[in-house]
This record gives sequence, C-alpha cells and structure tokens, in this order.
Amino acid sequence: METIVECKNLTKEFKGKKAVDDVSFSIQSGEVVAILGPNGAGKSTTILMMLGLLHPTSGEVSLFNQSPHHQKVRERIGVMLQQVSLMDALKVKEVLAVFRSYYPNPLSMEEMIRLTGLQEHELKKRTEKLSGGQKRRVSFALAMAGNPDLVFFDEPTVGMDSTARKQFWTKVQQLSKAGKTVLFSTHYLQEADDVATRILLFDEGKLIADGSPVTIKQRLLKKTVSFKAEGIFPFERFLSMECVSDIQSENGKIVIQTDDTDHVLLSLFSEGIPISDISIDKGRLEDAFEQLTVEQGVS
Ligand SMILES: Nc1ncnc2c1ncn2[C@@H]1O[C@H](COP(=O)(O)OP(=O)(O)OP(=O)(O)O)[C@@H](O)[C@H]1O
Ligand SMILES: [Mg+2]
Repeated sequence: METIVECKNLTKEFKGKKAVDDVSFSIQSGEVVAILGPNGAGKSTTILMMLGLLHPTSGEVSLFNQSPHHQKVRERIGVMLQQVSLMDALKVKEVLAVFRSYYPNPLSMEEMIRLTGLQEHELKKRTEKLSGGQKRRVSFALAMAGNPDLVFFDEPTVGMDSTARKQFWTKVQQLSKAGKTVLFSTHYLQEADDVATRILLFDEGKLIADGSPVTIKQRLLKKTVSFKAEGIFPFERFLSMECVSDIQSENGKIVIQTDDTDHVLLSLFSEGIPISDISIDKGRLEDAFEQLTVEQGVS
C-alpha cells in the first residue's frame, strides 16, 4: 500500500485561536475517507493545508511523499473547494478547455461535458449565469480534468438536488473502484457511512476519532453504565440483552456498553443486584454527534 497523504501534527491558528489542533493521520492509496464534523470543526482548514493553499502554523503535510506545492503532485490531484469560484468572464466550455490544458493527461472534452450534466446551449453560457447546483457540477468536472489519482471534495453535495447528489456519489464509487484515493468533508454521519471506507471525526479543531464507519458509529451511538458490583455479576444475562453490545471490567468497575441506559439500570435494580458507585457516560463524542445526525433536507 502506498501512502498518499501524510499529515504530521498539523496545527493552524487564526489570531491565536486554534482552528486545527495537532492533527496527525495518513491515508493509503484507494481509501475513501470522510472528514466528518460540525460547523467550525476545522475540516476546510485541514483540507486547505493538505492542498498547500494554507500554511500550517506548525506541522507538516506531504502528498505522494512530496510537498503539496510540487508540480508533479499538483498534476495528480483534483480539488473541489467549499466556495466554488469559476472564471466568471468565461463560457463554461472555455473554462473546461482552460482546465484541461493544465494537465499532461487530461480527460477528453466529451467526458468533461458529460460530468457537468449540461446541455450544449448551457455550455455557451458564462459561468456566472449558472445555478448554484450547476456551478458545483462544473466544479466537479474541473476537479476531474487532470484524471487525478487523489481528489479532495469539501462539502461536495451542498446545493445539489437529490438526482445530482446520487450521480455524484455513484461517480465517487467509480473513482474508488478505479483505485483512486478520495477525501471528502461532510456534516452528515449518514453520508460518511454510506460512502466512506474510513471516517476522520473532527470536533473543535481536533481529530477525535479515526476508524471504519462501523467503529465510529458504535462509538458515537453507544453509552455506558458503569458501577462496582459485589459478588458475582451475571455477565451472560446482561450480554444477552438486545440493548447491550459489550461488557468490560475496568479498574474494578463493570462497564456495560448500551444504547439504552434506562433499560440496563432498570434491570440491575429489578434483579436486586448489589451495585454501588454508578455512573452513566454518554460518551465523549456526544456533543459532536448531536450535530452530525441531522438528516439532509433532500435524500
Ligand atoms: N481565514 C480565517 N480567519 C480566521 N478564522 C478562520 C479562518 N478560516 C477558518 N477560521 C476559523 O477556524 C475554525 C475552523 O474553520 P473551518 O472552516 O476549517 O471549519 P469547517 O469544519 O470547515 O466548518 P464548516 O462545516 O462550516 O465548513 C472556525 O472557528 C473558523 O471560524
Ligand atoms: Mg468547511
């Protein structure tokens, strides 16, 4: 496996406030990685640093084991930023042509046009005349212009209707099948879960979890009931409950992982199990999680 992205202790401060705080991760070839987090978590800032468009206050980034500024690196990456800005004075077709000319092995013009989803008469429009969703689709085509090995999408589906969104994710899946490495940011756990092979969960500038969608979901959703138990604790009986996913012994306490703490407590009391020092932990990811489960308006 080739390491495609390497971030080491990345920190970015704006006026003394940390927007990204000591973030490290590496991404291997072929991974589809979601950068998931609420507003202001530091997703865009991290992406801009990976692209070499923002200088880190401290820490290092390398893409394909080189600086992101390296020409050879630039030729291998495609980017769709959160703020779409196209060359307003040009017609769509001209912008497509300009972007193709930047790369040694560009996509064909026909393929680029197909990706925009625009009709012939729309390709003659100046880019500023396009709707928000159309602009994003053109921006997607531009990201693909160089037939990149690594693509960055910052909030790619914002403003797309449900058809455009489905087409977009289908295209991402095709890219992944073709062995490309994909990084995208999103606010939505569902979107990350549907598409990504791995989730980097950001909150308040920190990378607070890194794992498969299954692992991250489990950490986000599960709460724990912990207590000291006297005598022998009926592990089996509690493990067989539907709402219990795991039971561990930690520092002399029993820790039950569950999505229904009320039910677990009720069972403990109704069975008269002698326990003390009870605590309920909603998980340290809870705050971030609450903002990540709001469904997207259109699905
Ligand atoms: N150029 C800047 N100058 C000052 N502060 C900034 C700048 N860019 C970002 N920030 C701050 O850094 C923090 C992280 O911002 P960032 O845009 O990376 O978050 P995000 O996770 O992409 O959020 P969103 O989901 O809203 O796009 C925020 O508190 C933001 O206000
Ligand atoms: Mg952002």
